[in-house]
Amino acid sequence: GVLRKYDLTVGRGTAAPDGYLKNSLLINGQFPGPLLEANWGDTIQVTLHNQITGPQEGVALHWHGILQKSTPWMDGVPAISQCPIPYGQSFTYSFIADLYGSSWYHSHYSAQYSGGLFGPMIIHGPPTLPYDIDVGPILVTDYYHRDYLTVLRDVMGTVPAKVPAFSDNNLINGRNNFDCSKVAAGDTTPCVSNAGLSSFKFTPGKTHLLRLINAGSEGMQKFSLDDHNMTVIANDFVPIIPYTTQVVTLGIAQRTDVLIYAPANAVGSYTMRSSIAGYPCSFAHQPDATAIVYYGTSPGTSTSTPWPAWVDSIANSCQNDPVNQTVPWFPITPDPAPPVTQLVTIGLTTNSSGHTIWTMNNVAFRGDYNAPILLLSNSGNNSYPFDPEWNVYNFGSSSSVRFVINNPTGFPHPIHLHGHNFFVLAAGAPGDGNFPDGALTNPKNPQRRDVQVVPPNSYIVIQLTSDNPGAWPLHCHIAWHVSAGLYLTVLERPADIKNLKIPSIMAQTCREWSAFTNTTI
Ligand code: C2O
Repeated sequence: GVLRKYDLTVGRGTAAPDGYLKNSLLINGQFPGPLLEANWGDTIQVTLHNQITGPQEGVALHWHGILQKSTPWMDGVPAISQCPIPYGQSFTYSFIADLYGSSWYHSHYSAQYSGGLFGPMIIHGPPTLPYDIDVGPILVTDYYHRDYLTVLRDVMGTVPAKVPAFSDNNLINGRNNFDCSKVAAGDTTPCVSNAGLSSFKFTPGKTHLLRLINAGSEGMQKFSLDDHNMTVIANDFVPIIPYTTQVVTLGIAQRTDVLIYAPANAVGSYTMRSSIAGYPCSFAHQPDATAIVYYGTSPGTSTSTPWPAWVDSIANSCQNDPVNQTVPWFPITPDPAPPVTQLVTIGLTTNSSGHTIWTMNNVAFRGDYNAPILLLSNSGNNSYPFDPEWNVYNFGSSSSVRFVINNPTGFPHPIHLHGHNFFVLAAGAPGDGNFPDGALTNPKNPQRRDVQVVPPNSYIVIQLTSDNPGAWPLHCHIAWHVSAGLYLTVLERPADIKNLKIPSIMAQTCREWSAFTNTTI
C-alpha cells in the first residue's frame, strides 16, 4: 500500500453551520473536519497538533471501525490506549486501512467530538463495486447551539429539567436552515435564518454511491431521498447482500453505503431528508435535516414530497432495521458455543453527589488518563485491578466471547465495540425485556458490524472472535452517555499484549500529559 499523510490541527474558532454563530472546536479551521481518504491496505499517517486553548484541553483522535490489528496503541482512546495529547504538543498516528468502506474519525476525549472534532474517512475498496459516481460522505449530525461542556454539565447535573440533552438542529454535511425566531429570548448571539442547505449533483442514467454516516451525538436518524429508491450494499465496514429500501436507519456512529440509480430522463430537484424521533428515542428538538439533490446545472427549489414509508418509519426510531434484513456478503459462522458468555446490564442512576450517571453491571467507567490500560498491561504492571469493579473485563486467551446486553432503561443505546466487527446474534424489539435465551438470528452467517442499537427495555446478543490482542472499549456511542460512564473495557489476550513492541512515543506522550496536568489544571 501507499502512505497517506495528513496534518490535522485542532483548535477553537467560530462557526455558523446553520446560521447561529457558535464558539466551536475546529479541525484545520473547518467544521466538520476534512475528509481522510485511502485505498484498502494503505497506511494512514495523521499528525495531530493540539492548539485547543482558551481554555486548554487535551485531545486524542479515534479512527472509528479500524481494527488496529497489532497497533492497538493507535486506537486513540484516553485511559485505554494512550494518554491524551496536551495543549501545544503533537502526536503522529499511523495505522493500516485494514477494512474498506465508509467511516469517520472523532475525538475520544470527553464528549469533545460533539463540540466539533470529527470528520469523514473513506477507504476505497476493490474497483469492482457496481457504481458509476462516488458522491462521497453524507454526514448526518444532530447539532447543539450550546458548547459541549455545557450540555454535558446539564446532562450529568442535578437539575432534572436540564438532564435531557435537547438538540437544536440536524445537519447534512454541516449545513441546514434554522429559524432564528426560535432563539431563546435574551440570547443575543448573531443568527441568520435560511443559512442554506448542502446540495448534491446527480447525473441521469448513472448509479451513485452515497456514504451515509451518523456522526451525531445522540439521535437515531431516519434517512431518505424523495422519489428515489436506495440499494443498501454495506453496513459499517461490512459489505452485505444488497436489498432495496426507501428508508435507512442509522444509530449514532453507524454507517450505511447505498446505491441510488438516477433515471435516464431525470430532471429537477429533490429533497434528501433525515429525521430524529423525539422522546423516548431521543431528546431532539430540531427540524429535520434537509439537503438538495439536483439534475442539471444548479440546485433549484425542491417541491418533492417524502416517501410514505419514511413518514411511517419515524414512529419506529428506537431500533435498528431488522437484523435478519442484512446478510454479510462474505459469510462467517461464529463459534456456536463460545467458552465465555458475559452478561452486561445497563443502568441509569445518580451517584452520591446527586449527579446522573450511566452504568454497566452497576459500575460507571473509572479510567485514569495517566495510566492507560493497554500500556499498563503491556508493561506487565499487574498492580492495577484489571477487574469488573474497575470496568475492565479480562477474557484471557478465550477464543471467543459472547455478550448478552440487557437494557432495562427506557432509552435506546448504540453499542460500539472497538477492534472488531462483532456478530449480531439477536436483537429484541423495544419492550421485549431481558434476553430470553431463545433462538439466534441467522447463526450460520449473522450480521456483522461495529455498532448495534439495543432498544429501550430490550436486549442484544453480540459475539467477538478473539483475534486481536488489545484493550478495547465496549460503550454506548451517545456522547452524553459514554461521558457519564456507559463504558467498559475488554482486555483481549493480555499474554499476547505483553509481546507487542509498543513505540516509545506512547510513554513520551504520558510524560507530556502528566507535566501538563501538573502545571495547568
Ligand atoms: Cu466511534 Cu469508542 O468510538
